[in-house]
This record gives sequence, C-alpha cells and structure tokens, in this order.
Amino acid sequence: MGMTGKVDMSVSLGPLRLSSPVATASGTFGYGMEYSGAVDYSLLGAVTAKGICLEPWPGNPLPRYAEVPGGLVNAIGLQGTGVEHFLEKTVPFYDIRVNRPLGRKLPLIVNIWGKSVDEYAKVASLVSADASGVVSAIEMNVSCPNVKAGGHTFGQDPAVLAETVSAVRKASSLPLFVKLAPNVPSMYPYVKACEDAGADALSLINTLPAMVIDVKSRRPVLGNITGGLSGRAVHPVAVKAVFDARKATKLPILAMGGVYGANDAIELMLAGADAVAVGTATFTNPAAAGEIYRGIEEYCRENGFSSVGEITSAANPEAAR
Ligand SMILES: Cc1cc2nc3c(=O)[nH]c(=O)nc-3n(C[C@H](O)[C@H](O)[C@H](O)COP(=O)(O)O)c2cc1C
Repeated sequence: MGMTGKVDMSVSLGPLRLSSPVATASGTFGYGMEYSGAVDYSLLGAVTAKGICLEPWPGNPLPRYAEVPGGLVNAIGLQGTGVEHFLEKTVPFYDIRVNRPLGRKLPLIVNIWGKSVDEYAKVASLVSADASGVVSAIEMNVSCPNVKAGGHTFGQDPAVLAETVSAVRKASSLPLFVKLAPNVPSMYPYVKACEDAGADALSLINTLPAMVIDVKSRRPVLGNITGGLSGRAVHPVAVKAVFDARKATKLPILAMGGVYGANDAIELMLAGADAVAVGTATFTNPAAAGEIYRGIEEYCRENGFSSVGEITSAANPEAAR
C-alpha cells in the first residue's frame, strides 16, 4: 500500500461492525441527534446515548458541572426520560435525524442503568424488544459515581457485577457492552466477571470520583457534593485501565477517557483498545470526533497501515491475543 492508499477504517466490536473506530461517549452527545450540523456523522462508528433507566429520572440538584484544570467534574446524576419515552420518541427521532440523511444505519448504543439487578434486566429486555432495528447494542453502566443506587454499587463488587451482567445477558440478545470503572484495585476480577457472564465487549473508562470546594463560600461546588472527573486529566488512567484489561481478556474494548485528538485515540489503541469514544472533548469542540477520525486515518497512512485494526495489533506485546 502506498502513502495515498485507502485505509480500511472499519473495526469490529464483537458482533458489532463499525465503519469507523471513533464513537461518542455516553452523556456527552445527548441522545445522538443533537449534534447534527456540528459533526460529520459519516465519520462516526457509533453513537452512545445518554444513560437511560426504567422510569424518568430527575438527576442531581444544580450545579452539576465544575470545570477544573485538565478536565470537568460533573454530577448530572443520570437524568433521563425513562426507557418508554426513549423508545417511543427518541429512537424514531434519531432514525429521522441521523440515519435518514446518512442513508444508512449509524449504530446506536443504548447506555442503561438500574437501581436493582431486576431493573437492569427489565430495561435491557424493553430495549431489546424494540422492533425498529435502530438500536444496535446495549452498554451497561455499572460505574457511574454520581448515583448511589445507580451503577457504582453494581460495578464495585465482582460477584454483584457478574450477577447483573448475567441478568442483562439473559434479558437481551443485543451485543452487550459493560462499562467499567478504573478506580478498582485490579481490573482483572471485573473483566473476568464480565467475560464469564457473557458480555460481548468492555467500555473503559467511566469518570473518576472527584470533588471541588469553593474556598470563598467554603462549600462544595456541586449540588451533589461529589462528582466524576473526566477530560484530559483522566486520559493516562484510561490508557492504564485498557492496558490492564487487555492483558486479562480478548474481549473487544471500546476506550474512552480524555480523547481530544487522534494521538489520544491511537494511544488507547496501542494499549489494546479496538475503538475509542470521544466524551468531554465534544463540549469544547463539537467537531472533535470527526477530526480524530481524520487524524487516525492520517496516522495509518504515514505508518503504512492498510487498516486501522493494525494499530491495535501492532502494539502491546504483552497482550493476551
Ligand atoms: C456530563 C457527563 C455525563 C455523562 N453521562 C454518562 C452516562 O449517562 N452514562 C455513562 O455510562 N457514562 C457517562 N459519562 C461518562 C463518559 O461517557 C466517559 O466515560 C467519561 O467522561 C470519560 O471520557 P471523557 O474524558 O472523554 O469525557 C458522562 C460524562 C460526562 C462528562
């Protein structure tokens, strides 16, 4: 292949085939269609929707954001419309606003959470029963630090994690991603729990527990008091988490955490990720995901890679694949 040859930018995440290795991260891209006009959807591999649960959920008290050097601390608290409204109103709207102009189906990954194992399974079965064919995969959020009963508890104990993933696996035949937290003593038992329970892929990383205090008022800035850190500051944490997870499993990895440019994405691929998702960067540069796609393509050309998957397999000699 010459320097100008066409690079195959498609990747597989288990059963899910994506035309691009760049997706959007849950909670930073609305329900998927809000960025039409700002980002070139043809360069995206998938869109991940904001977390959805069984009932409409108000989220946390304001303020919900605090900007910090190198990132953002948020405590949205998984505000959402509930799964019924999501499937009836949001999914068809996504089809009209995103898929129709594109002339094809851009995979929509639905991020779910619940307050109990049963609730996770219920949401998953309702999402799977959606006959429109617009939903391509489920991403289970078991790692949100901002809702006590909604995620964190399910992802911080390997046995509970296994039980929750198994329940969702039984409730849904859609490709199943499990989104894990990096702030655990070792990724290994969590990765294994997901693998054993039938997950198709891992999403890494969620935000890191964080807190900001206003020295004038001497009060916590966030209404929820604590929040989750995202953005540039968490990127090296994501690289390490992906590297550790890759050593533990052959499951495909969708990596996120401070991806602002192509180099950040490539770094995660070199650690073992199969695809990346852009999160907080979209808030300051709505076109970021498309630019990152172009940058990865350029990197492949410069390095003589005919397909983007070669980045992942060219690296990490310790990887268990
Ligand atoms: C405002 C905001 C809302 C988020 N909401 C969700 C969510 O609903 N579900 C989820 O699994 N992750 C959520 N996340 C986590 C992101 O998807 C991502 O894992 C994390 O922010 C790290 O990537 P980044 O540094 O590129 O933002 C949210 C992040 C932010 C900043």
